[in-house]
Amino acid sequence: MDNRTDSAAPSGRVDIENLAISFELPGGDTLEAVSDVDIVLEAGSFTALIGPSGCGKSTILNAVAGFVPISGGQIKIDNEPVSGINPEVGVVFQQYALFPWFTAIGNVEFALKRLQLPRAERRERALAALREVGLEDRASTYPGQLSGGMKQRVALARTFASEPKVLLMDEPFGALDAQTRIAMHELLLGVWDLHRTTVLFVTHDVDEALLLSDRAHIMSTGPGRIIESLEVTSSRPRKVDEMTEEFLTNRNKIMKLLRHHTVAES
Ligand SMILES: Nc1ncnc2c1ncn2[C@@H]1O[C@H](COP(=O)(O)OP(=O)(O)O)[C@@H](O)[C@H]1O
Ligand SMILES: [Mg+2]
Repeated sequence: MDNRTDSAAPSGRVDIENLAISFELPGGDTLEAVSDVDIVLEAGSFTALIGPSGCGKSTILNAVAGFVPISGGQIKIDNEPVSGINPEVGVVFQQYALFPWFTAIGNVEFALKRLQLPRAERRERALAALREVGLEDRASTYPGQLSGGMKQRVALARTFASEPKVLLMDEPFGALDAQTRIAMHELLLGVWDLHRTTVLFVTHDVDEALLLSDRAHIMSTGPGRIIESLEVTSSRPRKVDEMTEEFLTNRNKIMKLLRHHTVAES
């Protein structure tokens, strides 16, 4: 294991300040999707964004990725305002988005192309990334022959291999069954521990947020905004079947907030 990431200066801090995002709808109306959002992602931290469908989680994530223009406030990565797609920001969606015509290692190597490494080094790095997710022996397998969990592991390997400063994950495990999800949580935390990339993890699953994150922001709709932020301090690995006091307290608090806001707005 090399220490490439350990020796780098700490980086990957994200500041989201007073963020507002609106969409022009066909017909001329404007939809205020999110407003007044303030989030700090400390370098190397793991932050969850929780909220019901339609509250603006993906919109915020897509704005940090530079996919969606903002209407107010600002987003800065290491003090640089986001002004478009940034190669140092990795994104993982629910859809694995692997190229079906490349093997597992081919998919990882493709993502490394922009680093312009010598061919042998690129292959070695891709193989190391597959090793981190336990798929070294599937390097030559095509996505069509991999299970959903394995495809998402390739997607993780591909993302971490290019050493992004910031990793944005939008309900990455939403399509997986419960058992596979638990395995993916352990795997993700293991790989994250090696790289300490700053992670923003979007989910509507309260347990998933509390199992993974250092800090969780809870959102509500109409327009999307943050209604509560809390720290998660208990040590990892955390298990749903061995809940700590903190886990239960946080879980009850979030459930109550989400229920209250859903009832109030429906
Ligand atoms: N490109 C778009 N054009 C118009 N409305 C959009 C667009 N993207 C998202 N929205 C709207 O913004 C709101 C927030 O959506 P989204 O961020 O996808 O929510 P979430 O990810 O929390 O489910 C929703 O009302 C959605 O319909
Ligand atoms: Mg979404």
